[in-house]
Amino acid sequence: MKVSTLLPSRWGLGVMLSGFVLLGACSYTHEGIPAPACPSLPAAISYKTNVLPILQDECYRCHDTQHYQTLALGTFNMENFNEVKYWSTPANGHNGQSWMIGNMLGDTNNGFKPMPYDGVHGPDACQIALIKAWVDAGAPNN
Ligand code: HEC
Repeated sequence: MKVSTLLPSRWGLGVMLSGFVLLGACSYTHEGIPAPACPSLPAAISYKTNVLPILQDECYRCHDTQHYQTLALGTFNMENFNEVKYWSTPANGHNGQSWMIGNMLGDTNNGFKPMPYDGVHGPDACQIALIKAWVDAGAPNN
């Protein structure tokens, strides 16, 4: 009898607590990206420390110096920062969004091409949000 009367209130407390945890974890969101439980963004996002490792893991197998010229249509060498900057600039993009972010979001409705091109793996929502925040800060080479 004790157990059955206690259970609902403990369950309720659990729901309340996990609600707080979720609210706390969703400390930032970005336009067009669902609010995931992401680690908080560094105050100043560094290209070399924060962005580059993601590109190396997810994109270099096609977009590094060794591979980019073998791509069917792309001529984007990510080892050249000026090219990363060019493709990250919304003004050089499409519908107000850079190709870099639009492609990573797989935003085909707005004419973007989903990346990675072969659909194998790819950056998660938190990594895309981080790269978008770096783009929004003007894509500095820092
Ligand atoms: C499996 C190979 C492959 C991977 C991995 C890949 N890409 Fe691409 N990428 C391509 C190809 C091929 C094109 C050219 C597509 C086209 O023009 O239709 C391209 C084009 C692009 C373009 C536009 C440049 C252009 O010439 O149209 C951007 C921006 C881009 N990729 C970003 C990324 C990002 C960011 C990643 C990592 C998240 C990534 N790609 C991973 C193959 C790849």
